[in-house]
Amino acid sequence: MEVEPVERPRVRIEELPAHVGEEVRLEGWLHNRRSSGRIAFLIVRDGSGFVQAVAARDALGEEAYRRLDHLVQESPLRLQGRVREDGRAPGGVEVELSRVESLPSEPDYPITPKEHGVDFLLDHRHLWLRTPRQRAILRIRAEVMAASEDFLRGEGFVRVDSPVLTANASEGTTTLFAVDYFGEPAYLSQSGQLYAEASAMALGRVYCFGPTFRAERSKTRRHLIEFWMLEPEAAFVEHEENMRIQERLVRYVLRRVLDRCGRELADAGRDVAKLERAEAPFERITYDEALALLRRQGLELEWGEDFGAPHETALASAFERPVFVERYPARVKAFYMQPAADDPRVALCDDLLAPEGYGEVIGGSQRIHELELLRRRIREQGLDEADFAWYLDLRRWGSVPHSGFGMGIERVVAWICGLEHVREAVPYPRLLNRLRP
Ligand code: 4AD
Ligand code: MG
Repeated sequence: MEVEPVERPRVRIEELPAHVGEEVRLEGWLHNRRSSGRIAFLIVRDGSGFVQAVAARDALGEEAYRRLDHLVQESPLRLQGRVREDGRAPGGVEVELSRVESLPSEPDYPITPKEHGVDFLLDHRHLWLRTPRQRAILRIRAEVMAASEDFLRGEGFVRVDSPVLTANASEGTTTLFAVDYFGEPAYLSQSGQLYAEASAMALGRVYCFGPTFRAERSKTRRHLIEFWMLEPEAAFVEHEENMRIQERLVRYVLRRVLDRCGRELADAGRDVAKLERAEAPFERITYDEALALLRRQGLELEWGEDFGAPHETALASAFERPVFVERYPARVKAFYMQPAADDPRVALCDDLLAPEGYGEVIGGSQRIHELELLRRRIREQGLDEADFAWYLDLRRWGSVPHSGFGMGIERVVAWICGLEHVREAVPYPRLLNRLRP
């Protein structure tokens, strides 16, 4: 009588701790290997995690064991083995192999466990993503995005996306990417906000979420050419409530990552104690108070000037928790911001700066809802009223006070992961001098 081969359960590395004592199947790639005569240790990755698989000559048989010599870094593997508890292993388990199958792969994989320069790594971004640290960052990025959407849905916000191809600017004309729209000039969106305002008047509380584009010449550790922005917008919400929504959102996202991504934060080398401290209620200062604080640090700035990168870093280093800076001079901010009733020189706006020098992660404001004031601001900023005809309609019919904000996903990920530069917070960074891979 023939015995049918037993189909072992196929598990991902992250699920292994739930299968201690069982014989399982595993699929992945060889990350690293060392061997000593009768026993070989394979570090295997499958995207969900890394695990050490132990191949003993006695268990595999002479021939199968010898075939391991042909494995190279990144060899695809189909494995079978028993899961064993091991307190010293990173995931708490290792696998004792009973079967090893491999698929072909070329030798000389460019990214070895040794150190590489950042330009080399960026040139090989398509392969660099396979390293433990980059995998961890991308998992945290996915958690930040999912948590943000869960939070907003829980607060009654509906996702309504804005177009990427647009006919006019929202954040000033200097950073527009022009494209040819069948002979008519068009631009890649700098922000979905103006459309989100229209959507909010239809659905009350909305958010759009997608890639946005800035042809920024600035080469700082905070700037990408293409970045993802989450932009909530809510009718009948004013400046103060707008900031409270931002604070709840960021605290929720931070909590979720701390609760669910402990392993990834460790792989990213993050000092988690600093993040835990950041979770308390946020600080709050005005633009005027920020100027005074900067002056005490020897950074002189005239009232009415915008903060540059060094000012932002200094402010963001002065606190252990995120800090709101509110009420900026209207003239350094976009045309759509509502002036304060008690001082029309300042706008009802806020930037949320992340601590440890990370700086602005959110920019938000109450929007002008009155038609004549909005028209005046468009003119004052040298913009063409005709370009904003549909946007002005929103102030003609059913206009109400409303507010919103934009949270830069890469900025949040860079802060939470403790990255030196936002380029690692996005899968395929677009930078001033980099369009490939
Ligand atoms: O402050 P910003 O320019 O605000 C807006 O675009 C508003 N229309 C948003 C709104 O109210 N709906 O950008 C918002 C956020 C910043 O705080 C920052 O986190 C991120 O977007 N950001 C960038 N991230 C990476 N690279 C860049 N070049 C960025 N520019 C802005
Ligand atoms: Mg801003």
